[in-house]
Amino acid sequence: MSKSFAVIGDPIDHSLSPNIHSAAFREMNLDSSYIAYRIPKGELEEGIEGLKKIKIDGFNITIPHKIEMMKYLDKIDESCSLIGAVNTVTNTNGILKGYNTDMDGFLEPFKKKKLNIANTKVLLLGAGGAARAIVAGFAKEKASSITIANRTLENAKNLSEFAKKIRLNANAIKIEEVKDTAKNFDIIVNATSVGLKDESSPISLEGINEKTIVYDIVYIPINTDFIKKAKEKNAIIIYGYEMLLGQAVRAFEIWHDMEAPYSAMKKALLGGF
Ligand code: ATR
Repeated sequence: MSKSFAVIGDPIDHSLSPNIHSAAFREMNLDSSYIAYRIPKGELEEGIEGLKKIKIDGFNITIPHKIEMMKYLDKIDESCSLIGAVNTVTNTNGILKGYNTDMDGFLEPFKKKKLNIANTKVLLLGAGGAARAIVAGFAKEKASSITIANRTLENAKNLSEFAKKIRLNANAIKIEEVKDTAKNFDIIVNATSVGLKDESSPISLEGINEKTIVYDIVYIPINTDFIKKAKEKNAIIIYGYEMLLGQAVRAFEIWHDMEAPYSAMKKALLGGF
């Protein structure tokens, strides 16, 4: 049976999700389609009505609708209520159920590479929407502590309160405090948007070594300055595209109830750059 899927957001022109999911459909011989629709801020409700009218089977949600979309769900998966934002929806006869696959997407590369999170000390740069899913992931995998460093201290404090609520030791600092002193952490994650416009790394990464795991969630360009600095120190690298791929793999599995064709999806994603 032919099924239809979409991603909605604004801007949406450069979304790689249609490439990734279309490649998966081809690989699995599924007669399905996946289209990107631009739905501007303030037009989400009409957009959802439209998607229901065309009997869409499922859709992804990206910036700026991930939080507002919560209002239009009939059912909410635990992943979604924990994070307070939704990026994947199933439509079963007009009943919309929301999931958040960002946390699983973030954790996927650690699993694939057999990198341990339990009992590690984490430095997280950034305190926005993506950072919240990441905090939930570190809590789930039982990191020993997380230091949340952000430009706006208030946002870091709010996120550290969330971390403590889900039983992860947390403290909040201003990003300047770790600018030149990022040693003593096992895992360092950039969840700010710094790098997307080819800016230099938000911190210097002095003092890290070849055992430090350095993860950038920015995926355009693939080799951000943050990643380049980590490579100079021979650190263990996780690229932003790996999280993007991880969340798409999980969304595919929710929609199709079968194992996703990881390699075909990765090939399509990397071909899109
Ligand atoms: P996302 O959904 O991708 O997480 P977001 O919620 O807008 O996006 O969060 C962006 C993050 O990048 C925030 O932590 C933001 O810091 P503030 O809380 O101070 O706004 C951070 N960020 C954005 N631009 C930045 C810059 N130029 N320098 C440092 N941090 C920046």
